[in-house]
Formats: sequence, structure tokens, C-alpha cells
Amino acid sequence: MPRVSIKDTTKNFEVEKDGILYDSLYDRGEELPHGCLSGSCGACRVEVTAGKENLQPPGVIEQNTIEALRDEFSQTHGSDFVKNKEIRLSCRAKVLGDVTIIPIK
Ligand code: FES
Repeated sequence: MPRVSIKDTTKNFEVEKDGILYDSLYDRGEELPHGCLSGSCGACRVEVTAGKENLQPPGVIEQNTIEALRDEFSQTHGSDFVKNKEIRLSCRAKVLGDVTIIPIK
């Protein structure tokens, strides 16, 4: 079973393969920041610091929201903030293998 780790913590969770990241952690008692849970608000954004290939590629809805977040972060934090950052939405990303994430505030 895939393992999801939260960077800079001792938290890591064994989850079902093909589960949605947010739901999988919620089922194990870990509630990530969230809003709409439908891929449009971006509140559930996380940075994937390891294992990005172990998340199913984003669909259109997730990709559009990620692009909007990248634009927003570039304006508010500078382009270096998003450069080389793998941003995903925990309410949309499907877990296929081991990943390490950190919520983006
Ligand atoms: S909670 Fe709104 S996009 Fe995930």
C-alpha cells in the first residue's frame, strides 16, 4: 500500500492505492486544509516534495486551479516561490504510490 508522509513532521500514513489524497488522510484522522473539496477553490493545495510521479496526473479542473494558484503566488510571493514547486490539490489528486507532501499556506 502507498505511504503518504507529511514533510517536517513524523506523520505518515499507509493509504489505499487509487484513493484521493485528502480523503485517504481524513480517513486516517489527518484533516488537511480544505474548502470546496471539488477542485475549484485551491484551499487544499499541497507541495509534493517527493514522489510526484506517484500521483495520477491532474485533470482539467485541477490543472486550471493549479495554474491560477501559480499565477497568484507569483504575484504575491514572487516567481521564485513557485519555480520548481510541484503543486497539487489534495481533494483531486489520486495516490498511486509513496508521496511526501506539505500543505502550502
Ligand atoms: S478544497 Fe477546494 S480545490 Fe480542493
